Amino acid sequence: MPLHYDTIILGAGAAGLMCASFASAKGGRVLVVDHAKRPGDKIRISGGGRCNFTNMYAGPNNFISGNKHFAKSALARYTQWDFIELVAKHGIAYHEKTLGQLFCDGKATQIIDMLLAESRAADIALETTIDDINHDGAEFRLILLGKHVTAKNIVVATGGKSIPKMGATGAGYQIAKQFDVPVTETRAGLVPLTFGPQDLDWIVPLAGTALDGRLTANGTAFDEALLFTHRGISGPAVLQVSNYWHEGDAVQVNLMPNTSIFDALRKERAENGRRQMSTALATLFPKKLATTLAEKLQLTGNLADQSDKALQEVSDTLHAFALKPTGSEGYRTAEVTLGGINTDALSSKTMESKTVKGLYFIGEVVDVTGWLGGYNFQWAWSSAAACGRAI
Ligand code: FDA
Repeated sequence: MPLHYDTIILGAGAAGLMCASFASAKGGRVLVVDHAKRPGDKIRISGGGRCNFTNMYAGPNNFISGNKHFAKSALARYTQWDFIELVAKHGIAYHEKTLGQLFCDGKATQIIDMLLAESRAADIALETTIDDINHDGAEFRLILLGKHVTAKNIVVATGGKSIPKMGATGAGYQIAKQFDVPVTETRAGLVPLTFGPQDLDWIVPLAGTALDGRLTANGTAFDEALLFTHRGISGPAVLQVSNYWHEGDAVQVNLMPNTSIFDALRKERAENGRRQMSTALATLFPKKLATTLAEKLQLTGNLADQSDKALQEVSDTLHAFALKPTGSEGYRTAEVTLGGINTDALSSKTMESKTVKGLYFIGEVVDVTGWLGGYNFQWAWSSAAACGRAI
């Protein structure tokens, strides 16, 4: 006789472990399966090892999905404050780094230990492959590392395709296809963008220069740190807009989002008219960047030589500098996967498939992707809670 479980959760990552805690708390027999050696590997490396586990300002507008309303219910029924309360209950010290982003004071493994403690009533099978999965009309039948098991419910929490080196397989999309659950096109998200020689020629010498900028792609703008590197531009602002950028699009860089460059240059002209343009720009930007910009825009002469029109042109250019990425670094370095299980096929209350009873999808595998800043973990917690409570 195969072993029987009420619920088998595929994936012992953020969403899978959270779901196990809810599902097992109700007394059901729960098994969590993962092919990795350890549970929660992405939690371990997240937030530079300190796990940005949620965001104080998380709300539906911080997520991208084919259906912008889908995440609302789950996010409202298990909020960032619920997770913060859980973290506090386990005595885990944390702090706000910036923009509502909450990080552990200590190691990210504290979050994994907390989830394992909360789900201790569930069985966890690590280094276990999913060899086969079927539904015989009455229940799910699986072969896990050669062993036959059956289950009333299957929860797919296998994550996305990002960072294959860490065990991401895209298996969830295949399971969906097998059960005729539609999947939207997937692509790498929160990922560095790549640039061609034309841009690298002037960017590379600036490697190491940082400033607070505004990046815009397809009408969505983010004010965050911007870093010039030997591979192009990088930093939180770039990762954020990568979620909105599509192949062939340009991104707009505003090098000074909160101050009028025109006003600043006019003031400088009135006070120090004999300054060279590059020196004048160096009062607004890091020196290396100012020199490069002056060269790139062929700004010669001193400030007093510049008409209002000329200064306005310089200002307009630096407030909306167009760069054309040639691509992205792809799943190799992406923090998340955009797209996934089509939300039209799922109940927003329970995450259950509308066509296959007992089949649930949670976390990153679903077509709901958050911004950078703790939002993706919040989706993992909220979608897992919605499912775990319903099972
Ligand atoms: P997750 O990827 O966590 O778990 C999926 C599990 O399924 C894995 O354990 C995997 O081994 C297993 N699996 C996959 N295929 C399988 C198969 N075929 N058989 C068996 N098991 C299989 N987010 C955030 O909010 N704050 C942050 O600080 C960060 N930082 C961060 C850093 C880096 C480097 C990355 C790559 C990502 C982040 N993220 C993040 C994103 C966050 O890690 C991600 O959104 C969640 O881990 C998604 O949780 P899931 O449980 O859905 O997938």
